[in-house]
Amino acid sequence: MSDLSKQELEYFLAETRAIKNNPARYRDSMSDKTLVLLFEKPSTRTKVSFEVAMVQLGGYPITLDSRSSQMSRGESMGDSARVLSRYSDAIAARVYTHETLVELAENSSIPVINALSNLEHPCQAIADLYTMKEYKGSLEAVKLAYVGDGNNVCNSLLLGCAMTGVDLSVASPPDYKPDETILSRAQSLADSKIKLYNDPLDAVQDADFIYTDVWVGMGDESEEEERLNAFQDYQVNTELIRQAKKDCRVMHCLPAHRGLEITDEVLDSSKSIVWEQAENRLHTQKAIILKLIE
Ligand code: CP
Ligand code: NVA
Repeated sequence: MSDLSKQELEYFLAETRAIKNNPARYRDSMSDKTLVLLFEKPSTRTKVSFEVAMVQLGGYPITLDSRSSQMSRGESMGDSARVLSRYSDAIAARVYTHETLVELAENSSIPVINALSNLEHPCQAIADLYTMKEYKGSLEAVKLAYVGDGNNVCNSLLLGCAMTGVDLSVASPPDYKPDETILSRAQSLADSKIKLYNDPLDAVQDADFIYTDVWVGMGDESEEEERLNAFQDYQVNTELIRQAKKDCRVMHCLPAHRGLEITDEVLDSSKSIVWEQAENRLHTQKAIILKLIE
């Protein structure tokens, strides 16, 4: 999200709507084009939505994971990038450390898409903003409350909300706040209100959407015990959503850990829009692919 302008982000949201309304129109847009997907970490939604998006656009996706490629034997990202640039039209990569993605991008002559790093999850945030816009008709005067870990998803939402005028209140434990550089950048970009709280009850007041994500992200497994303790009071449950607007809706990037950051009761309720949110990953990936490869 740090690399996107407000205009580019708005273009993605508008283009996603056009693509979702008339997918057949885009059927051959990527013929003869190849997208390489690289995964150092597991994925269900990102992998499948990018692959299906590429196929439905008439292109060809190739997925590599770190275990089955030469990455497992230490070939550098820079060298992989130089080679992949000669075969394909874009790379989407999911990596542990953001620097790996930067190395990939610096050594590629083709576009590189962040499919999740420790710092950001921009493709997710674009789909989330689209989902809120679709649900409300506009992002004007919309308030999102993010409850839980100030992680990659939270960082990308901070920048995305700042650029689209969405008010965002984040409630996280003191040791799990969002990235400071991203937070101050979001606050300086925003016309909307970007606020941090400790108490989830404060953050969700008047919220149109409540969002949460896992307490133990990929790569945080060694901190599991301390994280589970720190996040005990940050569960999205019926009691918490009662404090938000009456018609508020609940979001989660998924996969969810039912009974931890979100209860079954909330995830399976009519307040939950997580499946629409997941579906929208497919439509937004198409907008991203079309813009970057074209
Ligand atoms: N939300 C998301 O990125 O899901 P995956 O980890 O399944 O790709
Ligand atoms: N924050 C989570 C998102 C998973 C899609 C993680 O990084 O594991």
